[in-house]
Amino acid sequence: MKNLSTFIPDFLARAIMIISTILFCVLPIFTANAAKVKIGILLPYTGTYAKLGTHIRDALMLRIEQNGNTLGGREVEYISVDSEMNVSKSTNRINKLIKKDKVDFLVGPVHSGIGINMTRIVTKSGTITIVPNAGANQITGKYCAPNIFRTSFTSWQLAYPMGDVMRKAGHKKVVMMYWNYTFGKQTKEAFVESFAESGEEVIDMPTPFPQAEFQSYFTKIASIQPDAVFAFYSGGGAVQFVKDYAAAGLKDSIPLYSSFLTEGTTKAQGASAEGVISILHYSRDLDNEANRRLKKTFKAKTGEEADIFAVQGYDTGSLLVQAMDAVNGDTRNKKALIQAMESSVIDSPRGPFTFSKAHNPIQTIYLRKVTNGENKIIGVAAKNVEDAAVGCHM
Ligand code: PHB
Repeated sequence: MKNLSTFIPDFLARAIMIISTILFCVLPIFTANAAKVKIGILLPYTGTYAKLGTHIRDALMLRIEQNGNTLGGREVEYISVDSEMNVSKSTNRINKLIKKDKVDFLVGPVHSGIGINMTRIVTKSGTITIVPNAGANQITGKYCAPNIFRTSFTSWQLAYPMGDVMRKAGHKKVVMMYWNYTFGKQTKEAFVESFAESGEEVIDMPTPFPQAEFQSYFTKIASIQPDAVFAFYSGGGAVQFVKDYAAAGLKDSIPLYSSFLTEGTTKAQGASAEGVISILHYSRDLDNEANRRLKKTFKAKTGEEADIFAVQGYDTGSLLVQAMDAVNGDTRNKKALIQAMESSVIDSPRGPFTFSKAHNPIQTIYLRKVTNGENKIIGVAAKNVEDAAVGCHM
């Protein structure tokens, strides 16, 4: 075959080579950046946590809408899957999002069991993952990884401060009721560790997840007559729990404490929720601009009142917006993306927060009491709480 220089002058051949090399190297950058950013979402849209998942998803999309439906200048595509809170099916669902759909980011889940499973898979795949709820300590503890971030809380953050709160209230004998899976169990462990400091008693009463049949437990509580009850239930199960607790005649004699029991549920619980005390990293009555904006725009978009689940979804959106701006939408630059995420300050409706070394929010835990159908702040349970991230080596 004849040489190119036989037909065209040498300088022209060189110019063609240079231009094609530039096109070969630079074009993929432009096309990659022009393609849509894919966000895989695995959240519950059915069952007892349906509202939690829906609020997280809607607020995440709302935040990105407020950024012109773009991240780092690129349009966004969502691939959203119902987790059904099913741990065993989650392996296939997560793998499909990563390998078949080739998502750039993974957001999920609500349920701690799925969260631990997701952590195991994305640690291997390297997919940048944001956990907008699941509290299992390991996610930002023993199984922490550079590509895993959490915009919610750890089990420990929302249980340990309660020990102090209930001891100071003068309670010495407390029944602990919870759904018997990772998050409930870790809530109990952290509570026992802090409450039973000087011989206080905790009576352990786990119940099967996601059942909401509480009558036989309430009969036991009536005969035990503890000073108070500390309970973890959430979503649909929490509505049932609070109503049944009042109907069983326990509400006025044995005070009820919790984290999530009255979050996003007070309307459905009605008068039975009055007086329930909780600790959480948010309250609707927090007076700041980000909270006002979320409450207004979330209501306008969904017709629903914002709650902590909406906040966690919204903050996941803010984290993505900020990090993608920092890398001009180049999702292949994972190192720079992770660095931007690590150093971001999130202007959250819960108040501004930063991430710990293990990638979990450092945040204030409020003390709240349901008054006239609203969780009103009555104090601060613990300020700027950073999780100990036991076992995290990063
Ligand atoms: C969890 O499984 O980690 C979990 C679920 C629902 C909540 C809080 C934590 O409200």
